[in-house]
Amino acid sequence: MSVEDLTKEVRALAQEKNAIILAHNYQLSEVQDVADLTGDSLALSIQASKTRANIIIFCGVRFMAETAAIVCPDKKVILPVQDAGCGMADMLDAERLRAEKARFPGVPVVTYVNSTAEVKAESDICCTSANAVQVVRSIKGPEVLMTPDKNLAMWVQRHTDQKVHYWPGYCPIHNNLTVGEVKEAKAAHPRAVLMAHPECLPEVLEMADAVKSTSGMLTFAAESRATEFIVGTEIGLLHQLKKQNPMKKFWAVSPKMICTDMKKTGLNDVLQALKAERPVITIPEETRLKALKAVERMMAVPRD
Ligand code: 13P
Ligand code: SF4
Repeated sequence: MSVEDLTKEVRALAQEKNAIILAHNYQLSEVQDVADLTGDSLALSIQASKTRANIIIFCGVRFMAETAAIVCPDKKVILPVQDAGCGMADMLDAERLRAEKARFPGVPVVTYVNSTAEVKAESDICCTSANAVQVVRSIKGPEVLMTPDKNLAMWVQRHTDQKVHYWPGYCPIHNNLTVGEVKEAKAAHPRAVLMAHPECLPEVLEMADAVKSTSGMLTFAAESRATEFIVGTEIGLLHQLKKQNPMKKFWAVSPKMICTDMKKTGLNDVLQALKAERPVITIPEETRLKALKAVERMMAVPRD
């Protein structure tokens, strides 16, 4: 079936079943285009919590669908490709977090949403790349323990007087971007502004004009007077950047910035998931309730 026909069939079935399709900014272009809403982790969690749809088709990776299942126990949350995971989320489990907490008794645990439901359940509050600094500053206390991303934690440390301890996890894609590759991109596009995701190494973030979540980059690019941008994140974001800013130019910082898990979901997977209404993401209720507290605390933190 052609992309056009598949798109039509997905849209018709979604309407018939009162399903909402959410797609992360890194998804394949055709999956972003079939979705009701695209966004970063924070925007998609908020949308999931507000939807009146019966079914949420989450085009992204497992931790994102789990977050939707945490906030929407009464909805059917479907992740079209079951093994779409996140290399960073896999770097910490609940048992290791409990051991880490024992090393920092009484220190609040701030967990990036790129984590399993079990890890969220062991945490005091969640954060995303869009609100990490505000979340940490909202905590009354001299120190916090951030998990699982060391680079996001080091970025937050630069913006708070609190001591930020951290778990040494990282995103295998963003952490792999080198200063040399950024220099090459800058040399190839000398007039371009560099936007970088806080999952990048501190020395890369040092070179950036703007450090933003994926949706933060979309807002920044739209509002900026600049007309050329180097995009320091996964290449899927280029689709929305170009679509929303047809008069501006966007360059991937490196062609290797590809999250293979984010690319596992095709239009046909979305169609099959809608037809079969599976695979459904379920979280044991005890874990869900604990994780929900951490997610709700995050959502209550005012944004700048
Ligand atoms: P955003 O929340 O900024 O979209 O990032 C999610 C992610 O997985 C980054 O690698
Ligand atoms: Fe996880 Fe990195 Fe992929 Fe984001 S880009 S989903 S952090 S592996």
